[in-house]
Amino acid sequence: PRPLRVALLGCGVVGTQVAKTLLYDQEDLSARVGAPLEIAGIAVRNVDAPRDIAIPRDLLTEDAEALVDQADVVVELMGGLEPARSLLLRAIDGGAAVVTANKALLADDGPSLYEAADAAGVDIHGEAAVAGAIPIVRPLRESLAGDDITRVLGIVNGTTNYVLDQMSSHGLELDVAVKQAQELGYAEADPTADVEGYDAAAKAAILASLAFHTRVRMKDVACEGISGVTAEDVEWADRTGYCVKLLAIAERTSEGVSARVHPALVPKDHPLANVRGAFNAVFVEADAAGPLMFYGQGAGGRPTSSAVLGDIVSAGRHRVLGGKGPQESTYAALPVLPQDAA
Ligand code: NDP
Ligand code: HSE
Repeated sequence: PRPLRVALLGCGVVGTQVAKTLLYDQEDLSARVGAPLEIAGIAVRNVDAPRDIAIPRDLLTEDAEALVDQADVVVELMGGLEPARSLLLRAIDGGAAVVTANKALLADDGPSLYEAADAAGVDIHGEAAVAGAIPIVRPLRESLAGDDITRVLGIVNGTTNYVLDQMSSHGLELDVAVKQAQELGYAEADPTADVEGYDAAAKAAILASLAFHTRVRMKDVACEGISGVTAEDVEWADRTGYCVKLLAIAERTSEGVSARVHPALVPKDHPLANVRGAFNAVFVEADAAGPLMFYGQGAGGRPTSSAVLGDIVSAGRHRVLGGKGPQESTYAALPVLPQDAA
């Protein structure tokens, strides 16, 4: 089969990790797709900015539109609403499959992007847009599509969970802990989005839309962040047997769907209290399945790259195999050990 050309838009915290895996694990990924995967180029704001030495300079371009026009799969890891939205629409109009980690964009304008994709007969993959490495978008969109979900609840922002954890374990002030989260690559380009709960609200909107088969936008989500939480609040909670956690909650009620984000006191013996650092956890309650729990790293370049790469493989398989995984014979031959070696 002919090679699949992948355009990366963005080479920051997440884009760098995705590019490195595409470049250096190309053979394995191509075998999983069933066709050679090639990076067509990487669009950035400034090709001369210092970056990871593993990224070949000749792949970088400041002309994102020209790059999009030559790709089979366009992977948007720039963030922000524009030019991300126009570039994705351009990709869709040109018949490319689209992968994005951009929750702000999906929560703001997901429906029109999905409509454009439906009209063009292409897919939008957004697993990395919610809860970093945790597979939650595809389970809601596909595995649970035959069930009736009643509630989705959890911790969906790694930065604020890290910050609250640092305030509680090390007595740090909020702004000091936010700086650390930025250095670790957890925070948004403008960390106000994390601290004020907007990032969690965008994710709550996406989760609610998927869980309840409706259109929930970010502006429909009641939102309070952690900027009002002080070191004293966290210390008081700790002394009285609680943790402060920023929760996102989406529920189906008799009147409709409600979604909200706010700090809450969680008893220390509750599973959410043990979600530490930049980890996230999402509980789903469904009529037939009952309670389900999804847990893992919710932010950071490498964990998030796992979700993005999964979407790239999935988009590639759709192109090559019509959505099926490759047949066993196409996998690289890894030896299977005899039973007595186990
Ligand atoms: P960064 O700010 O680290 O990287 C952004 C990249 O996009 C940079 O390479 C930048 O170029 C490029 N870029 C920005 N604007 C433009 C533009 N107008 N034209 C061309 N290139 C542009 O962001 P992250 O990697 O942290 O995040 C990327 C996306 O992934 C965001 O949507 C974010 O919400 C999402 N996400 C992030 C996670 C994380 O843990 N960091 C986790 C899950 C999702 P240059 O390098 O030249 O500045
Ligand atoms: N800033 C986001 C967070 C990145 O901290 O959760 C992952 O979406």
